[in-house]
Amino acid sequence: MQADIDAVRERLRDAKRVVVLTGAGVSAESGIPTFRGEGGLWRNHRVTDLATPEAFARNPALVWEFYNWRRMVISKVDCNPAHRALAAMEKGPADFALITQNIDGLHFRAGSRNVLEIHGNIWKVRCTYCGDVHLEQEPDFGTAPACRKCGAPLRPHVVWFGEGLDPRLLDTAYRLSASCDLMFVIGTSAVVQPAASFPFAAKSAGAFVVEINPERTPLAGAVDLALAGKAGEIVPQLVRP
Ligand code: OAD
Ligand code: ZN
Repeated sequence: MQADIDAVRERLRDAKRVVVLTGAGVSAESGIPTFRGEGGLWRNHRVTDLATPEAFARNPALVWEFYNWRRMVISKVDCNPAHRALAAMEKGPADFALITQNIDGLHFRAGSRNVLEIHGNIWKVRCTYCGDVHLEQEPDFGTAPACRKCGAPLRPHVVWFGEGLDPRLLDTAYRLSASCDLMFVIGTSAVVQPAASFPFAAKSAGAFVVEINPERTPLAGAVDLALAGKAGEIVPQLVRP
């Protein structure tokens, strides 16, 4: 493992463009449950049944209650050594971009700046009618919030199951992936598209792809190097002086 870590440190020193793709595993050590691990239940509802446009159409108050609860949980946790190490990596000599599937905003809290939140951000709300997006930092946001501009119902500015990604973000993510020379894929089960295809875009363009995950994922056979372990333990070793 140490030899692998040293080899990656060297690649990081020489890289011109670094792209990092993160998933729920990066926030796991902060105490936020992953999607496909344990803890995917709220009041006996499966998370995957609440984070849908159908659930919001059926019972917007319930979906808001669920998001208020998640906002409360996220407001109480802190970023962990993996988030901080990635913020440090951004300060290195290479061009750097971080693509995250997480909606918790913890990368920003840790100091990362060039972040593409392809699944949205739980601290933002969007009007279901006029599309206005704004930050709303009060964790408990009520169960029927209305748009300040047009009065229509607001929804969380996150991508729900069955919804597409913002095409501009998607385009940027592909472009970044296909033009980096080093990619890190950290804490994602790599089963949800289109994010799961970014490492392949990087590989086809000739990048060296490193995966960091304690479990074996469908990507393992496709990456150049899989570092088996927790993000909070491995990523800091890549950036320490
Ligand atoms: P998953 O819950 O599918 O996968 C989490 C991954 O993190 C797993 O592969 C774990 O092995 C790994 N993991 C757990 N602890 C870790 C640690 N300490 N360090 C590193 N890795 C660890 O979450 P995602 O892959 O992020 O989308 O899921 C992708 C998307 O599926 C989510 O963004 C969400 C969901 O549908 C939307 O909500 C649109
Ligand atoms: Zn509006």
